[in-house]
Order: sequence, then structure tokens, then C-alpha cells
Amino acid sequence: MEYKITTKSEEETIELAQNFESEKFPNMVICLRGDLGSGKTVFTKGIAEALGINETITSPTFNIIKEYDGELPLYHMDVYRLNGKVDDIGLTDYYKKGGVVVIEWADLIEDYLPEERLDIKIKVVDEDVRVFIIKPYGQQYEEMCEAVL
Ligand SMILES: Nc1ncnc2c1ncn2[C@@H]1O[C@H](COP(=O)(O)OP(=O)(O)O)[C@@H](O)[C@H]1O
Ligand SMILES: [Mg+2]
Repeated sequence: MEYKITTKSEEETIELAQNFESEKFPNMVICLRGDLGSGKTVFTKGIAEALGINETITSPTFNIIKEYDGELPLYHMDVYRLNGKVDDIGLTDYYKKGGVVVIEWADLIEDYLPEERLDIKIKVVDEDVRVFIIKPYGQQYEEMCEAVL
């Protein structure tokens, strides 16, 4: 099963993310794929807002992982500059810390992604339009998609 959702503004993308967050559960993992400027960080902002996090969300490109305190902890990762050093930072440990994990550039660590997860590929159509191709892996994520989409 695969879902396709189009958003026509940053605000619509934030709303989409908030809808997913309303179905959150501990150890939820969201894997974002898409070019630079496609909206991965914007989507993460929506997740953060729905978790009640007021801090500004920025791409953690240089420190790889940023933690935020919310209703559940948010572990926001950007693995663009990780260069495969997944083990060095214990990245996969974060999948089981009871928080919500969002990974930007998940395609760069394909072999290290958890089996059960939500995969989201963002395609840029034009300046304001993005297509989200959303694919759940595992029953919990399938049910979440059914509830949200
Ligand atoms: N429909 C949309 N959804 C998300 N972002 C959008 C949309 N339309 C335009 N944008 C703009 O695209 C940019 C996305 O940036 P960002 O989320 O940082 O990308 P990434 O993290 O994928 O590199 C922002 O400047 C945002 O305002
Ligand atoms: Mg980003």
C-alpha cells in the first residue's frame, strides 16, 4: 500500500505532519527522502509542533542528531553528512528510546533503517507544490495511515 498526498504550501505540509503526529506512539520512526529544499525539515516542524515543542527546528546537518523535549522526546536526525558512520553515534539505539524518530536523508542509511517504519518520499513539483509518497511498513504504521489518510 502506498499513499500519494499533494500539498500546495508549507502550511499544508505542516498540517499533514501534525495529522500523523496525532496517531503517535513511542518508538515511531519516520524516514524522509527527498532532495535539498523538498520539505523534510518543514515536515519535521509539523511533527515537533504537534508534540508541543516550541523550540525552532533546524536541520541538524552538522551535529546529525538533535533531541527535543515534548509529549514524547523527538529525535531529529539529518544523516546527510554521516558518511555511513552509523555505529559511531549509536544511531539505531534511538529507535528504541521511547520517542519519535525523524530521519532526513533516510535513503543514505537504507541498511540501518528499522523494518517497521513510515517511509515518506517528497517530490518537488514546483515552487510551492510537493507530492508526498507515503509507505507504511508494519501493521502499526499501516493502521496509522488508515487513520490519517
Ligand atoms: N508544499 C510545501 N511543503 C513544504 N515546503 C514547501 C512547500 N512549498 C514550498 N516550500 C518551501 O520549501 C522549502 C523546504 O525546505 P526544507 O524543509 O528545509 O527542505 P529539506 O529539509 O528537504 O532540505 C522551504 O523554504 C519551504 O518554505
Ligand atoms: Mg532539512
